[in-house]
Amino acid sequence: LAKVEIDLATIPEGKNVIVKWRGKPVFIRHRTQEEIDEARETKWQSLRDPESDEQRVKKPEWLIMLGVCTHLGCVPIGESGDFGGWFCPCHGSHYDISGRARKGPAPLNLEIPAYEFNDAEGKVII
Ligand code: FES
Repeated sequence: LAKVEIDLATIPEGKNVIVKWRGKPVFIRHRTQEEIDEARETKWQSLRDPESDEQRVKKPEWLIMLGVCTHLGCVPIGESGDFGGWFCPCHGSHYDISGRARKGPAPLNLEIPAYEFNDAEGKVII
C-alpha cells in the first residue's frame, strides 16, 4: 500500500496543506485552539451526518481528511464557506472546521483516511 509521510513541523498553526495520496487530495489542517473549541462546541447530534469532533480526529490540533466532496467529488476550497471550514464551489456545499457537512447538497462529512502519528519524528503517515 502506498503511504505518504508528512513532516508536521512544516505546517504552521492556522494553515492547511494538501497532499496527494493514492491520487486523491488529503487536507491537513493545523487547527488553532479557537477552531478546536468551535468544532467541539457544535451540537453535532442534530447534523445530517452526526459525528462529534472527537470521533473525527486523533489529536485535536490535526484535522486530516480526504479533500473530496461527498456530493459528487469536487475538491472543496479551504478557509471558506459559512462555517469556517471548506466550501465546495461545484454545487455549494459547506463544511465546518471538523469537515462536517453543514449546508448544501453534500450528504456526508468529509471522509477520514486511516493514518497514524509518529511522535518521535513529528510526522503523520497516511
Ligand atoms: Fe461538491 Fe456537488 S460536488 S457540492
